[in-house]
Amino acid sequence: MEDLNQIIERARADFAAAATPAALEDVKAVYLGKNGQLTALLKGLAKLPVEEKREFGSKINQAKQAVEAALNERREEFARQKLQERLASEAIDITLPGRSSGTGGIHPVMKTWMRVEEIFRTIGFDVADGPEVENDWYTFTALNNPPNHPARSMQDTFYVDLVDETGKQMPLRPHTSPMQVRYARQHKPPIKVIAPGRTYRVDSDATHSPMFHQVEGLWIDENISFADLKGVYVDFLRRFFETEDLVARFRPSYFPFTEPSAEVDMMFTSGPRKGKWLEICGAGEVHPNVVRNFGLDPERYIGFAFGTGLERLTMLRYGIDDLRLFFEGDLRFLKQFN
Ligand code: DAH
Repeated sequence: MEDLNQIIERARADFAAAATPAALEDVKAVYLGKNGQLTALLKGLAKLPVEEKREFGSKINQAKQAVEAALNERREEFARQKLQERLASEAIDITLPGRSSGTGGIHPVMKTWMRVEEIFRTIGFDVADGPEVENDWYTFTALNNPPNHPARSMQDTFYVDLVDETGKQMPLRPHTSPMQVRYARQHKPPIKVIAPGRTYRVDSDATHSPMFHQVEGLWIDENISFADLKGVYVDFLRRFFETEDLVARFRPSYFPFTEPSAEVDMMFTSGPRKGKWLEICGAGEVHPNVVRNFGLDPERYIGFAFGTGLERLTMLRYGIDDLRLFFEGDLRFLKQFN
């Protein structure tokens, strides 16, 4: 009869030598399985005399318990090892920089918008906002542009399926000029306001987009002259472009709502864009009929108005040659401004 202690020792050594949990379970069968060594010994008990049965039986059982304990110990060792491996593989490296969800930026045209507001606020201009779906009167008639007047075709206007209270179909405003009338009718002179906002025209090429932005300016008091327009506007340009090295010229033009009317061209006098006139603005002294529609007496009140394209200013500021880039939403383009 083999020494039980030897069996226990061998079992311990075999368990220790098992390299994987599966190998361990195979080794277990050698000792505790149906045909295992200890099982065989227990089966052999039947042949022993009664006195020896009890004594030897209890010894085998003790040996069996010792082998089972050794087995469980090794099993736990495997479990601990597995846990350690998992902890190591799933460990979070807190020294890695976090993954950000990406910060948004301000659109270049919006930057221009904000900048224009900032500059005009410093010289006492209020900032006003108004509807993009306008009525016919504010858009045209009040601006001295009566129905059937040929000047209406200066702008290729979008109309929407809505009529105003007079039964006229409503346009998407093709310019911010209606805001002159809206604001002036609600405020007392001196009236000093800019109105930036979205505008719409049936127009689309490298320098025109069906939706674009303008900023309207209006200064009405008892003696606001064309010289004031020049002073304010040129000063604005110098501040906007952060350079003294530019000149502006006021070229005679026609708008129904101003008399005299001018288009403003500017030119940089140094740097890479030096020496090329670019049209950026329509302006003039507000027509007496329009002043009357403000609810004011044109014999007493006079002043200037202007309308500038925000995309144009932005294109000049950053040297962009295609206005459509502003509206394509291409991050490669937009990221450059933030
Ligand atoms: N509303 C004109 C346009 O969109 C621009 C303009 C011209 C605005 C003269 C003015 C102005 O206020 O006085 O083309």
